[in-house]
Amino acid sequence: MIRIRHAIASTVVAVCLVSGTAFAADSLYKRVGGYDALAAVTDDFIGKLATDKDFSRFFVGFSEDSKKRIRQNVVDLFCQATGGPCFYVGRDLKVAHAGLGITKAEWDKSVMLFTDTLNKFKVPEQEQKDLAAIVIPLEKDIVEKP
Ligand code: HEM
Repeated sequence: MIRIRHAIASTVVAVCLVSGTAFAADSLYKRVGGYDALAAVTDDFIGKLATDKDFSRFFVGFSEDSKKRIRQNVVDLFCQATGGPCFYVGRDLKVAHAGLGITKAEWDKSVMLFTDTLNKFKVPEQEQKDLAAIVIPLEKDIVEKP
């Protein structure tokens, strides 16, 4: 009996190893609720940026199609960075933001708005920290002015 149990346990371990899921913790992508959750977070965050008077100068003159493309790229970026099944094909972030003259104060405010979005969706503390670890290092690519 013990041998049979041992054999079953070994098989389970082997299957997990082969399938690459060897007891790994769920990805951040899964923990936040997958694609739809990240898309909803992105829409809310972009909505906040686009309608805030401090950011209005950045979001003028984009066609509906251009807005959709930018939005999709942000979703894909978050999806890929959290370990989801997406591949970001947008521009390098430094290139995409070059010349916009985004200041450190604007960046800090955008991080605050992002946090407001995460709170609105009741994203738990650990997942908020993990998302912050993805977003905070982007400052060096996005901010151009002190
Ligand atoms: C969490 C922070 C941010 C992330 C993850 C992010 C990400 C992105 C991505 C993925 C794109 C599209 C790149 C492409 O289409 O190839 C983009 C474009 C853009 N972002 Fe950001 N961004 C962030 C913060 C900001 C902030 C704070 C501003 C303004 C103050 C801003 C303004 C813009 C604008 C205006 C574009 C369009 C540029 C263009 O296509 O000419 N972004 N961003």
